[in-house]
Amino acid sequence: MNIFLDTASLEEIREFADLIDGVTTNPTLVAREGRPFRELVAEICRLVRGPVSAEVTALDVEGMVAQARDLAKIADNVVIKIPMGRAGVRAVRKLSAEGIATNVTLVFSPVQALWAAKAGATYVSPFVGRIDDRAGDGMEIVAQILRIYENYRYDTQLIVASIRHVRHVVEAALLGAPIATMPYKVVRELFDHPLTDLGIERFLSDWKGVPQG
Ligand code: G3P
Repeated sequence: MNIFLDTASLEEIREFADLIDGVTTNPTLVAREGRPFRELVAEICRLVRGPVSAEVTALDVEGMVAQARDLAKIADNVVIKIPMGRAGVRAVRKLSAEGIATNVTLVFSPVQALWAAKAGATYVSPFVGRIDDRAGDGMEIVAQILRIYENYRYDTQLIVASIRHVRHVVEAALLGAPIATMPYKVVRELFDHPLTDLGIERFLSDWKGVPQG
């Protein structure tokens, strides 16, 4: 499973740039950084070899396509994040015909993901955490999308997004989701286990009893 970092923080990206497979951003994450958007995206693309998602803010087809074409010029690994909806699906059709990679975001149902794939989206991002927040079952939606994509052999790759905790990552991997994007805190926690720390502590303390020479 590919692991993407869901952040626009250069500091967080630098810490894991050698290990992660890509980065996803959104307008909220970019706003936190207080830097010009294009400049920030360019810098992230220099740090990371894999795909870097940058989101359009226009709501009409022509506006989305114009912003997407402009963002796509920043670097070869830029992926254009397009919000789901009729305008978004139409924009994705145009961009996919031009060979511009897209990530359809704010997906909350399997039929939205079906439209994204039919339009030729490169990636689709169901938001599992936000579905769970409303007492839904985010992972069930992921399972349904994966099944639908397999049924029709769509090439669109699913990114499990809006991940809140390690359990989401485990469930995504058990379902065979190709990609999961997660906040810095969750990426860090994927390495950790209290028994690993205790084990290291114990080994090092026992090692002190080994005669040196
Ligand atoms: O990748 C989608 C993500 O940025 C949304 O996460 O935590 O705002 O629901 P969240």
